[in-house]
Amino acid sequence: MSEVIVEKVSKTMDDLQVIANISLSVKNGEFVVILGPSGCGKSTLFHIISGLIMPDIGRVYINGSDWTGKTGQVGYMQQKDLLLASKNVQTNIAIPLLLKGEETKLAYKKVQENLADFGLKGFENYYPRELSGGMRQRAALLRTFMFTKDILLLDEPFASLDAITRRKMHLWLKDLCISYNSSVLFITHDIEEALMLADRIYVLSNRPASVKAEFHLNLHNSFSEKELLKIKILSLLE
Ligand SMILES: Nc1ncnc2c1ncn2[C@@H]1O[C@H](COP(=O)(O)OP(=O)(O)OP(=O)(O)O)[C@@H](O)[C@H]1O
Ligand SMILES: [Mg+2]
Repeated sequence: MSEVIVEKVSKTMDDLQVIANISLSVKNGEFVVILGPSGCGKSTLFHIISGLIMPDIGRVYINGSDWTGKTGQVGYMQQKDLLLASKNVQTNIAIPLLLKGEETKLAYKKVQENLADFGLKGFENYYPRELSGGMRQRAALLRTFMFTKDILLLDEPFASLDAITRRKMHLWLKDLCISYNSSVLFITHDIEEALMLADRIYVLSNRPASVKAEFHLNLHNSFSEKELLKIKILSLLE
């Protein structure tokens, strides 16, 4: 079981209320997209869920236990691509394992076993600057998966990619998460991206972020149903 429940979380930073009473959840194996306007508080919400910062009010439950303000339970890919420029792909990806105290040789072996799934086989000795944007994002994703494949927080992972690469990454990521049965929370500004990936979508308000609406999607949604949903979501984001 891999699930997250966020219960009535609020947060004020530097006298600015950023999060207002957000409750949401991700169930086992579910792909949940958080869609919200720029600057509304999405990344702050992820900092709270990952345990990097404490909410003022509210709790975060992971697999039934209270993990509010405690790290170590979720894989978190932050908004900025944080690959280290001075390290090659293999070392960058191995970082979470090395930080956990894994022996270097064993860590590299685990990285090697996963490179093919992430389209990085043969590129382990390359440096981030020698990779395409899509490859860099896949390397950062694999590093996140190295920490855990069970619960993933992905903050706009494809925002910097061109439309075609981004579409390819959507198909690839969706398949990957299904095969690993990962529970995913995925932040985006992009409605098309949300409709492409989500089992469920939360639409957030302007700052302070609160949940404005929630939509369930399924494989059987027709094109016209998705178009209708797009219009509804657009009107909520205005
Ligand atoms: N450490 C901090 N101290 C003070 N204010 C902060 C801090 N982190 C974020 N904020 C403020 O909180 C608000 C929300 O920021 P956040 O990064 O969570 O938004 P976001 O929805 O992720 O934005 P974007 O869509 O641009 O990624 C912003 O106004 C920001 O200035
Ligand atoms: Mg953000």
